[in-house]
Amino acid sequence: MGLIDVTDVSYTYRNGPRALDCVNLSIAPGERVALMGPNGAGKSTLFQMFNGLLEPDQGQVIVDGLPVVRAHFPAVRRKVGMVFQDSDDQLFNATVYREVAYGLSNMGMPPDELDATVKWALDVVDMPDFLDKTPFNLSGGEKKRIALASVLAMKPQILVLDEPTNALDPLGSTKLLALLNKLNRELGITMIFATHDVDIVPYLADRVLLMEHGALRLNGTPAEVFRNPELLHRLSLRRPYVAQLAELLMQDGLLPPGDPPLSVEQARDMFGQLLCRRAGCEDG
Ligand SMILES: Nc1ncnc2c1ncn2[C@@H]1O[C@H](COP(=O)(O)OP(=O)(O)OP(=O)(O)O)[C@@H](O)[C@H]1O
Ligand SMILES: [Mg+2]
Repeated sequence: MGLIDVTDVSYTYRNGPRALDCVNLSIAPGERVALMGPNGAGKSTLFQMFNGLLEPDQGQVIVDGLPVVRAHFPAVRRKVGMVFQDSDDQLFNATVYREVAYGLSNMGMPPDELDATVKWALDVVDMPDFLDKTPFNLSGGEKKRIALASVLAMKPQILVLDEPTNALDPLGSTKLLALLNKLNRELGITMIFATHDVDIVPYLADRVLLMEHGALRLNGTPAEVFRNPELLHRLSLRRPYVAQLAELLMQDGLLPPGDPPLSVEQARDMFGQLLCRRAGCEDG
């Protein structure tokens, strides 16, 4: 049994499409899982099943042994922190301080600890000076950071992130990846995130799920998933740029055939060894 188990889950919106079509998946504690697929594939709908914002028409979702049904919503929502795709769906307090403190004060956290935790959460998203601002008047990227801070402050066991780097500037995005990996490594937080950004996936995912028309089509490591150019193309995805470069060099006979690197670091290892060998380095 996983930390999250989704069994035969289907869901149709009222007057809308069948958004989930018999989805089965299991996520182990400490895993980092990317969910990818074209617009309208059902990613956000699936995420809302993890904390009971939507309930399946068929099938069931179990989080840490608890079926996600009304009676368990409070317990499940303490375990699952959700960063929404659209920050405007998440922010509703008059100040940033109150926004980030909201869940903690509902839990009855003492004021000193509450202040320290809010400060910690705003520091990790690089927004320490925004305490008294109104969330609604912030920029898109600033709202995303505050939404993240409000979820991180609760130190959930599972982080569900719907397009977490969307709206962040490049440096903010890089810092967020480092932070999420640190939380995963040091606190064992399980992460599942939806993204269209194929270039971040090798840095942030142990496993990738590809979704189309409400159904899971492929489940594998980043290397396995990015080995399927036709399926990726059908699902409006592509391989990371660094893999595309390596493949062009393979076609030109300048790199040996095989799995291309997916990250800059993997590419450096591959190119470095090759260049070193050609240059006759001692350790090459
Ligand atoms: N509240 C709603 N009412 C009716 N239909 C909806 C609603 N929300 C989503 N849908 C439909 O359900 C399907 C799945 O939508 P969903 O938001 O889960 O897709 P997604 O994979 O998250 O897409 P994106 O990449 O654009 O965020 C789409 O066809 C969408 O139009
Ligand atoms: Mg979505």
